[in-house]
Amino acid sequence: MDAGGAGESATRIAVGGEGSRYEVVVGHDLIGELPGLVGERARRVAVVSPPSVAARAAEIRDQLGAAGYNATLLPVPDAEEQKSVDVLASAWSVLGRAGFTRTDVVIGLGGGATTDLAGFLAASWLRGVPWIAVPTSLLGMVDAAVGGKTGINTPEGKNLVGAFHPPVGVLCDIGMLDTLPYDDYVTGLAEVVKAGFIADPVILDLIESGLDDEPALVTSPAWRHTREIIERAVRVKADIVTGDLREAGAREFLNYGHTLGHAIERVEDYRWRHGAAVAVGMAFAAALAVRAERLDEATARRHSRVLAALGLPLTYDAEAWPRLREAMRVDKKARADRQRFVVLDGLARPAILEAPESTLLEAAYADVVAGRYSRDAERGTVRS
Ligand SMILES: NC(=O)c1ccc[n+]([C@@H]2O[C@H](COP(=O)([O-])OP(=O)(O)OC[C@H]3O[C@@H](n4cnc5c(N)ncnc54)[C@H](O)[C@@H]3O)[C@@H](O)[C@H]2O)c1
Repeated sequence: MDAGGAGESATRIAVGGEGSRYEVVVGHDLIGELPGLVGERARRVAVVSPPSVAARAAEIRDQLGAAGYNATLLPVPDAEEQKSVDVLASAWSVLGRAGFTRTDVVIGLGGGATTDLAGFLAASWLRGVPWIAVPTSLLGMVDAAVGGKTGINTPEGKNLVGAFHPPVGVLCDIGMLDTLPYDDYVTGLAEVVKAGFIADPVILDLIESGLDDEPALVTSPAWRHTREIIERAVRVKADIVTGDLREAGAREFLNYGHTLGHAIERVEDYRWRHGAAVAVGMAFAAALAVRAERLDEATARRHSRVLAALGLPLTYDAEAWPRLREAMRVDKKARADRQRFVVLDGLARPAILEAPESTLLEAAYADVVAGRYSRDAERGTVRS
């Protein structure tokens, strides 16, 4: 079995414009690239990481130590628990005690929660020190670590405190995914599928042909096209954020499926994984676009077929609509109180549907609950 490119040279995808340009490197065995990225001006390096990737963090510390840096581990709690002001304050103390200067470097090794925290730690220390993202989850590789958004949560909500602080480089080492739990991998695929629908349908072609020919492998990092779908999804995000570095325009298209998805996450009190909620959100966005006479039914059905075959959910509780509608109303992405939904006018043709009538939203939700576009698709199971 071809493990998807081991031994091949790494792919380098540029992100950002003048002054904030960096590369997302995708490939195998990339840790050797770290000393080059850390550079000659740094003396100290702090490796921020949760327990799930502690062994990898120790490897990185040893390698940077051997390269002459004063490298220390900065262990943090797992998942969302680390994105707190308390964890951030302890991390500031570690940097302070280590005498971290403006040329020293923070490395964030872990899933999206870790790269968000490490990036914000770097953004806030001495008003900004360099940092490197080494995402170890699929969601981290194709989404969280690309684009320069960093932040933490507060008791009032998720990601309310943060900064745009692009890293000096992102290393997507496919081998890191070998230990990622299955459900995290599958829900990460939802963002890959999203990239397929909004911009690069080759991703969908690859996944569909894999689901026909080798279904058990598509949800494994060992699949021969894993590296290609990751590269393609990274390129979609890189191109969009490069064209729109501060979220004024096209970056909104990356929120495809996220308006209802965020509402489900909120209603579920964040017990559902992000990608599972976004999968239902995409099914909803497709139904909404069909109802608004912007999208053909075949493309709506394609959403359900691909997402369900990957094991992602497509539907949600009929009774939850009033709570979801309320949660969508307070979504921070609404502009001046006018609700905005990313929809498709066709494959890879994202657009904004502004202030749709509530009857239209309700009808689209009823389609999702009734499985109108998913009768020929198996129901998925991965949620939380
Ligand atoms: N900054 C952005 O633009 C952006 C975009 C999307 C999401 N995010 C953020 O990303 C976070 C979600 O990312 P996530 O799903 O990666 O969450 P996560 O960081 O919580 O990781 C999910 C789980 O997988 C574990 N894990 C990660 N890599 C592993 C590996 N290689 N082996 C074993 N276990 C591993 C983690 O320890 C955790 O338990 C959220 O906090 C979200 O707000 C940020």
